[in-house]
Amino acid sequence: MSEENKSIHEFDFQLICEYFAGMERQGPGSPEVTVKALSFIDNLTKESKIADIGCGTGGQTMVLADHASGHIEGIDLFADFIDIFNATSRKRNLQDRVRGIVGSMENLPFQNDELDLIWSEGAIYNIGFERGLNEWRSFLKKGGCIAVSEASWFTEKRPAEIDGFWQEAYPEIDIISNKVGQMEKAGYIPMATFVLPEKCWTDHFYAPQVSAQEKFLKKYAGNKIAEELVQNQRHEADLYYKYKEFYGYVFYIGKKF
Ligand SMILES: C[S@@+](CC[C@H](N)C(=O)[O-])C[C@H]1O[C@@H](n2cnc3c(N)ncnc32)[C@H](O)[C@@H]1O
Repeated sequence: MSEENKSIHEFDFQLICEYFAGMERQGPGSPEVTVKALSFIDNLTKESKIADIGCGTGGQTMVLADHASGHIEGIDLFADFIDIFNATSRKRNLQDRVRGIVGSMENLPFQNDELDLIWSEGAIYNIGFERGLNEWRSFLKKGGCIAVSEASWFTEKRPAEIDGFWQEAYPEIDIISNKVGQMEKAGYIPMATFVLPEKCWTDHFYAPQVSAQEKFLKKYAGNKIAEELVQNQRHEADLYYKYKEFYGYVFYIGKKF
């Protein structure tokens, strides 16, 4: 990659970070859903070790911290997100047990059989659901749990427009029963599966973006990359409102055996 391209790419990266850094969540979810998923986990104590992979700025991590015992390490590729994460942790006086680190989900800094719980909301798609379940399993103790949310089809058949969109964005999207099968095949007992309510997308994810987009476009008036970013987000939101009966996020909770 030439230096020129590299700097354009880095600028892109920075813009994406800035766009999402101001939001409480960088993906669909809600505090209620985090608490509900946590209600299926029964193995935690003050000594437990929890990893929140692809934690973003830590919206869901702080909810986890409020409702679960143990030490939590949030991991994300974007340093700006981790800075916000650690500032929030300090502000909430959680710094002794909730810490964010910059790192990749493809190369996690854990030992085998070290973790009691792996959490990951709206992020495992970056490595792929099956690959993530398989690779991350070795870091869990026997009887340790995994809880991930993942884009899933609700129906066997769906309109070509939305099918095409997802085949391009994330071809690993699949129906819920197939995802549960992949979880079993990877060596987990499926403990629970539930569909995230629509408001996790509408109220908690797309609605806060509307005013943020206006501000962002004003700040970067005439900037093609910023305009394209907003356009893509709006297109994604429009598709969701049009086709939300066919897909959504699903929480998959499993126990290592
Ligand atoms: C859709 S956001 C979800 C963030 C947060 N869990 C939430 O639900 O609000 C996906 C996150 O994965 C992070 N990410 C992408 N690729 C990653 C990687 N290879 N390793 C670690 N984090 C990654 C992104 O920076 C982003 O914060």
